[in-house]
Amino acid sequence: MRFGFVGDIVGKVGRGQVARYVKEAKQNYNLDFVVANGENASHGFGLGLKSIQELQDSGVDIFTGGNHTWDKREIVAFLGIENSNVLRPHNYPQGVVGSGLYRGAINNERFAVVNLMGHFGMPQCDNAFICANATIDALQNEGIKNIIVDFHAEATSEKRAMFMMLKGKIAAIFGTHTHIGTDDLEIFDGTFGVSDVGMSGARESVIGMECKEPIERFLTGIPSRLSVPESSGIPTLFQMIVCEICDGKCVEAFKLKAVDNGELEKTLVAK
Ligand SMILES: [Fe+2]
Repeated sequence: MRFGFVGDIVGKVGRGQVARYVKEAKQNYNLDFVVANGENASHGFGLGLKSIQELQDSGVDIFTGGNHTWDKREIVAFLGIENSNVLRPHNYPQGVVGSGLYRGAINNERFAVVNLMGHFGMPQCDNAFICANATIDALQNEGIKNIIVDFHAEATSEKRAMFMMLKGKIAAIFGTHTHIGTDDLEIFDGTFGVSDVGMSGARESVIGMECKEPIERFLTGIPSRLSVPESSGIPTLFQMIVCEICDGKCVEAFKLKAVDNGELEKTLVAK
């Protein structure tokens, strides 16, 4: 099976990029499904009902989340659905609504998407590494080999450690949350990994947000409200990683990128 993974979608500009490119990528690269991190899709904070519908219409099949999952409380209705395609990190404590695990099938071949959240600079949650091992063991016992992980974490060391711990056991692990795409696309023991897929949204920004407020924050130390640039005709960025997996292993992976609404280009290939 072949799928696409879109990193953090930031606000209306990011949703516009998904609308512009995801269906095209699905068609041109024969993608069976697309996973996207949606926790910043609604004005930069959370994933609301209208954004879920809009992004599904644009071709996103499965949504992952992270520390901003709870910013739009209407998401709870989606999280509560059995085998929901809207995930929250799986390592929230037992009893928290929703799940970080989605099970699907393409041509009778089963796959699973697991969403985990790291620890450095993140809200308190259960140990992501212990949760990853337990969840993957359980999926393998069910006979599911094609396992895809979104590890939503701040520190590259945490992301790297998770990749090295899971290599050989899963098909792919995608880092999200830091919004800056890294060039370390690699395949080890049949497992694809990247520290961060990178965001889709406004390019002349600070991780998708209007520059003025974050710069002011760094100059003065005074907190201020962040906002997503809303104007049309601004510099934009779309980033997606395409992965081909077969019998639980990644056989090919590469990055697709489009700048300022230009052509979708293949920019990096995993080695
Ligand atoms: Fe995040």
